[in-house]
Amino acid sequence: MTITQLPSTHEGERPDDVECGDLCRPQDLARSVDVSGLVDRKNGLVDRAIFTDRKLYEQELARVFATSWLFLGHIEQLKKPGDFFTTFMGEDPVIVTKDKSGRIRAYLNSCRHRGARVLRADYGATRAFTCTYHGWSYDLEGKLISVPNEEGYAKIDWDRDKWGLVEVAQLDTVYGLIFATWNPEAPPLDEQLGDMKYYMRAFLGRDPEGTTVVGGITKWVLKGNWKLAAEQFGTDWYHVNMSHASALMVLSPTGKGPKAEIANTPGRQYSDERGNGTGFPTHPKSRFDAQPVHEYYDYDELRERLGQAAVEGPMTTGHATVFPNFSYLPVNGSIRVWHPKGTEEMEIWSWTVLDKGMPEEVREAQRLYNLRTFGPSGIFEQDDGENWSEVQAISHGWRTNTVPLNYQMGLGSEREDGVYPGETSELYSDAAGRKFYARWAELMNTPAWHEKEAEQ
Ligand code: FES
Ligand SMILES: [Fe+2]
Repeated sequence: MTITQLPSTHEGERPDDVECGDLCRPQDLARSVDVSGLVDRKNGLVDRAIFTDRKLYEQELARVFATSWLFLGHIEQLKKPGDFFTTFMGEDPVIVTKDKSGRIRAYLNSCRHRGARVLRADYGATRAFTCTYHGWSYDLEGKLISVPNEEGYAKIDWDRDKWGLVEVAQLDTVYGLIFATWNPEAPPLDEQLGDMKYYMRAFLGRDPEGTTVVGGITKWVLKGNWKLAAEQFGTDWYHVNMSHASALMVLSPTGKGPKAEIANTPGRQYSDERGNGTGFPTHPKSRFDAQPVHEYYDYDELRERLGQAAVEGPMTTGHATVFPNFSYLPVNGSIRVWHPKGTEEMEIWSWTVLDKGMPEEVREAQRLYNLRTFGPSGIFEQDDGENWSEVQAISHGWRTNTVPLNYQMGLGSEREDGVYPGETSELYSDAAGRKFYARWAELMNTPAWHEKEAEQ
């Protein structure tokens, strides 16, 4: 496996939904590298350059993040018109708000004048977004409504309507989660998720009333490429017994860690061609939920409504990634996004999700359980973060960087199992990892809509 062609320096294309006048980026700013030699799905091999190469990272922003559906937040973060929160899509800062009609909208958080952010707060409520640099102001519909001292300038012939905030191309919600994409050609969110929705429902559809989020968003920075985390949540149950040995001992009633029957947990791992993946034990003793939460659920009712397989599988101690960078842990009530911050760092944003019907004491038990296990200092979270940072830290060594990584576990074991939708493999498998990187490579090798437009 060798890198056959390195990309040039910077993105040469731009979408045509903004006013560009006679601006025309020269084609030699265009960059693309054929990554076929970096991801070998058939043999389960991955070249470490995909975690370290800055040029590949820039291509990733333009072809993976720009084209995919990305998680923004939970609908409960926006109660009424004017409520907002800010987040990122890839490295792009965005505002998510409810307009006057109550519709959820998302805009690039960058002033059309000189590019400063028009909103610096994490969340709040407002009537307009006013830039603190020169004071341009935009309404909840993204329209430019105020240009201070405009009359002080010699009059120019311009169309103010063309200088509103740049809006995402598509926005949709599923089980209370808000997703958006810059890509006008992206297939609907429903299609991107496909069978993944069945697995998400086992977590987010337990309460017919839906879910809510509590405790704000916990945010922390971690050394390591974002893909290491996203991939692990999609495919990796294998690390649990080793990496989390001490945490499992703490949780085990005997203090000795899980017995062999649980350590070698039977279970299934779902994966699809769109890069989504989730794994879950099907052993009845593999449920590590907080006691008050466990006692809260009426499992017979859940079995009736969601099906036996969902309750005994994806509702247990599982893990999941919706491609590219949204992940969740059903039993901990954790949803999180891995924001890319260059090749070396990620920012983790994590929420605690609760069923709306949960009484206060159950909510609090779930919130604390999530914090203790998968908060930034959680007993499991620290183990995972340490691994990703460790892998990243040494990956720049020349020899290290040239040695491929192994994703061969369970090669060829994916099949339709007759119980769970889509293709599944054993729980201990790299199937979802192979498909995660195959999807990544497919997008990296496909000119995005904005590049195609630039070519025309
Ligand atoms: S940069 Fe926003 S008003 Fe000038
Ligand atoms: Fe883990």
